[in-house]
Amino acid sequence: MRARVGLLTVPQVRWVPLPVERERAAWHGPPGASRPVRDVPFVPTPEEVVDDMLGAARLKETDVVYDLGCGDGRIVISAAKFFGARGVGIDVDADRIKSCEQNAAKAGVTGRVRFVQQDLFAANLSEATVVTLYLLPWVNVGLRPKLLKELRPGSRIISHAFSMKDWLPDRVVRVLSGKKILYCWMVPANVQGRWNCTLRLDDGRKREAVLEFEQEYQMVMGASRVKGREVMLEQVKMEGRQLSFMLPYRGGGTSPVMYRCHVDGDVMRGSGRAAWGRATELELRARRKT
Ligand SMILES: C[S@@+](CC[C@H](N)C(=O)[O-])C[C@H]1O[C@@H](n2cnc3c(N)ncnc32)[C@H](O)[C@@H]1O
Repeated sequence: MRARVGLLTVPQVRWVPLPVERERAAWHGPPGASRPVRDVPFVPTPEEVVDDMLGAARLKETDVVYDLGCGDGRIVISAAKFFGARGVGIDVDADRIKSCEQNAAKAGVTGRVRFVQQDLFAANLSEATVVTLYLLPWVNVGLRPKLLKELRPGSRIISHAFSMKDWLPDRVVRVLSGKKILYCWMVPANVQGRWNCTLRLDDGRKREAVLEFEQEYQMVMGASRVKGREVMLEQVKMEGRQLSFMLPYRGGGTSPVMYRCHVDGDVMRGSGRAAWGRATELELRARRKT
């Protein structure tokens, strides 16, 4: 009998768990000294790079941009002025917030932007659809659990110059003739665990299956059990709430099927397209097992 190792009973190498996430970057100042109020000094992003950041986010009018550590407000002001988006700038420095408000008035966008004097680790990010960062590597890493918890799947994060260590970006964009680098992520839906799944074929027949996914950020592995047979899913891809995967050829005249699904909490719905065979369109509905 095979040992139960996850992803149904298919033996495979499991991913190494991540080191414990730090709630916040460690403070290594002199003994007895308190943490400085600012985690990062004010260094503005060049205006051309601001345009590239908003372009990399594929910004739309319906977006709400949060710039964490907003400096003079240039990112959210540009988002409002040139894309018609709404923006919120957070900065711990009162003088910075004052200059943001003056700059927003000059740009004529006061109705679409808001500036809050606050520690960025205390900000509520739940309404943001785009988050921009120009901080420092350890501050990005400290922010990572908050971004994953508070942002909705599909939200985009653009960081000027700094990565998030082992949360690998979906895209890296070089700008300003290669002198600057932007890291881009899309927050993935959580699909970790086992899902009870019903597949409906286009001739009306139904088939029950169990799907199991293991997930680290946007990287997902999956396996399925249909009619007692277990197979690894191929070409598994997670993009925000969209999960796609291929159920490969399983012999017995079955065609490989490519599924595209929408994930909403513990419910997944989608459809599959078979390369050949009688049933070429399939409907998938799945619910996560508790
Ligand atoms: C490098 S500047 C970036 C400014 C702006 N985002 C840009 O790209 O032009 C970082 C800003 O973060 C602010 N900041 C530093 N630590 C902060 C904290 N804990 N909470 C909120 N703002 C912070 C600083 O005051 C500074 O204005």
